[in-house]
Amino acid sequence: MLSRKEILEILSISRPDEMQDLSRRAGLCLEEQLGSRVYYRGLIEYSNICSRDCLYCGIRRSAGDIQRYTLAEEEILNAADFAAGKGYGSLTLQSGESASEAAVDFAASIIRKIKKRTASSLLPRGLGITLCIGEQTEASYRRLFEAGAHRYLLRIESSNPAMYRRIHPRGDSLQGRIDCLRNLKKIGFQTGTGVMIGLPGQSIEDLADDVEFFYRENVDMIGMGPFIPHSGTPLGAFGNYPAAETRLELSLKMIAAVRLAIPDVNIASTTALQALHPMGREMGLNFGANVLMPVITPGEVRKQYQLYDGKPCLDDSPEDCANCLISRVGSTGRSIAFNSWGDPLHFFADR
Ligand code: 5AD
Repeated sequence: MLSRKEILEILSISRPDEMQDLSRRAGLCLEEQLGSRVYYRGLIEYSNICSRDCLYCGIRRSAGDIQRYTLAEEEILNAADFAAGKGYGSLTLQSGESASEAAVDFAASIIRKIKKRTASSLLPRGLGITLCIGEQTEASYRRLFEAGAHRYLLRIESSNPAMYRRIHPRGDSLQGRIDCLRNLKKIGFQTGTGVMIGLPGQSIEDLADDVEFFYRENVDMIGMGPFIPHSGTPLGAFGNYPAAETRLELSLKMIAAVRLAIPDVNIASTTALQALHPMGREMGLNFGANVLMPVITPGEVRKQYQLYDGKPCLDDSPEDCANCLISRVGSTGRSIAFNSWGDPLHFFADR
C-alpha cells in the first residue's frame, strides 16, 4: 500500500512529463503483477427501471423523459450467446436497482440459463458472470451467488459521508452500502467497488480517502470514472464541478494511484472516460487499467440507458463495439485475453 503522502503526491501531479512518468510506473506495476493482457466483460444493460433517486444519475427514479424498459429473457440470452461467440470470457449484467423478489428471481433465472448454455470446451464453467444491480438483502445476494454469479460490482460513489449525503436523497445510507459490500465478500463474491471522480466539492483528500477505503475493505475490483453531468439531474444542472479536462486527468491519476497502491486488483477503463475524450478508454489502459467492458446491450434501448450526457456508442451495435475495441486495444500495444474469466488475482491472495 502506498502512504497517504504518496497517494496525494500522485493526485497532485500536473506537468505532462510527470503524467508520462506516472503512466510508465503504473504500466510497469501492472505488467509485473498481472501481465499486460486486457480482460473483457460484455456489458448488458438489461433494465433501466430504478427505485433510487441519486442526484447525478440519468436513470434516477424521477427522471421524466425516458422510456423504461426491461429486456426480454430471450434478448438477454442472445446477447450472452453473442459474447460467448466473440470469445468474451465474461459478462456484466447491469440494471437499475429493484429489490423486489420478482427482480431478483428474474436475474437468478437468467444467470442459470446463461451458465448452462455457454458452457463449452473453451469455457467449461460457462461465461463468468458479474452482477451490477445495486443494494440487495444478504439473502438475495446469496440466491444470486448460488444461481452462478461470482462477481458483484457495487460502487461506493464516494467514501466521504458528507459527500455521499449530498449526492443521494435523504435516507440513502453510506453505511448500508458498506454493509452490502461486506455481505458480498462474506458470501464469496469477487467484489468490486469504485467512485465518481470530479464531483462538485470533491477534494483530492476525499479521493485519497477513497483509495484507502478500497484497501481497507479489501475489494478485488475497481471501476471508477469521471463524474459527467446529466442535464436532467439536480447535480448535472446545478452542480459546480471541475472542467472536463481536470476530471479526465484526475480520473487517470486515480487509476494509476490504485494500481500502485493495490497492485493485484482488476481495474476497469470505463466508458465514462471516453465520454470526455475520444481516446479516454485507451488512456485508462495506459494508466494501469486491465479490464474493458464492451457494450453488448442490443438495439434501441441503449439510448434509454444514459446515466450521463454524451455517453458514447449509443448508435453502435454490439458488432461495432467489438471491432472498435479491438482497434482501440491494438493501439495501446496490448493484447486481449479471449475466452478467459480474468479473475482478479487479489481475490486469491491472502492478506
Ligand atoms: N457521471 C458518471 N458516472 C455516473 N454513474 C451514474 N451517473 C453518473 C454520472 N452522471 C455511475 C455511478 C454508478 C454507475 C453504474 O454509473 O458510479 O455506480
